[in-house]
Amino acid sequence: MKRLSGKNAIITGSTRGIGKGIALRFAEEGANVCITGTKIETVEPVVKEIEALGVRALGFALNVADYKAVEEMTAKVKEAWGSLDILVNNAGITKDNLILRMTPEDFDAVININLKGVFNGMKAAVPIMMKQRSGKIINISSVIGLTGNAGQANYAASKAGIIGMTKSIAKEFAARGMQVNAIAPGYIQTDMTDKVPDNIKEEILKMVPMKRMGQPEDIAKAALFLASGDSDYITGQTLVVDGGMVMS
Ligand SMILES: NC(=O)c1ccc[n+]([C@@H]2O[C@H](COP(=O)([O-])OP(=O)(O)OC[C@H]3O[C@@H](n4cnc5c(N)ncnc54)[C@H](O)[C@@H]3O)[C@@H](O)[C@H]2O)c1
Repeated sequence: MKRLSGKNAIITGSTRGIGKGIALRFAEEGANVCITGTKIETVEPVVKEIEALGVRALGFALNVADYKAVEEMTAKVKEAWGSLDILVNNAGITKDNLILRMTPEDFDAVININLKGVFNGMKAAVPIMMKQRSGKIINISSVIGLTGNAGQANYAASKAGIIGMTKSIAKEFAARGMQVNAIAPGYIQTDMTDKVPDNIKEEILKMVPMKRMGQPEDIAKAALFLASGDSDYITGQTLVVDGGMVMS
């Protein structure tokens, strides 16, 4: 028995990396999946990969910081498939610099996409899930939101903000059959971390007790747990998936 048979899911930022890993895992478990990214050329091939797994797929190019665009996309998914059961707010960026060199524009860009983007996704989805009296929301935070990191004030603020917002929305909807949780990934091998210089990568790996980078599939397994009925009595939590990094 597939664990997400007949469920309809939106996963933001799912053209590559962690979001794509989650999208493929959910599709393998029987969910119909809506893919989003910033460019339609990168969305379309993933839509085809999802369809090849025998489920339905939709794809949209949009900026998650644009509420109207997120609202329209969410409404189209509901119209096409009849329900929205799972939302994964995954889209995110980095614009790292020490505060002495971080521009106000770089601060705003990261907050708008990483934090307001998650708000936008939830704001568009909750009216639908409320009427259904069911829904699972998973927000992708980061261990950096728990520990902080020199050079990532904007990113850490956005990811810590996601944890507080997740708890708030979990409380608002706990009695309405909806669960809202976050995942805090550690150091995961994707395009986002490929740009980190090798010497810094080595330093980061020293802080990972399991001595390996995580893979998108490691996050997808945790997301599957939180999207499935196995997590029905869990809400407002942040599941750290980091090979033990947050303990160091
Ligand atoms: N890779 C890691 O080590 C790591 C660790 C902790 C948390 N995370 C978080 O996981 C999430 C995914 O990261 P990743 O490593 O897969 O990154 P990635 O750069 O490989 O992929 C990011 C995805 O988000 C999309 N995206 C970016 N800006 C967008 C926007 N404005 N609107 C819509 N989509 C947008 C991109 O198109 C892409 O699909 C991010 O929120 C990131 O902060 C990553």
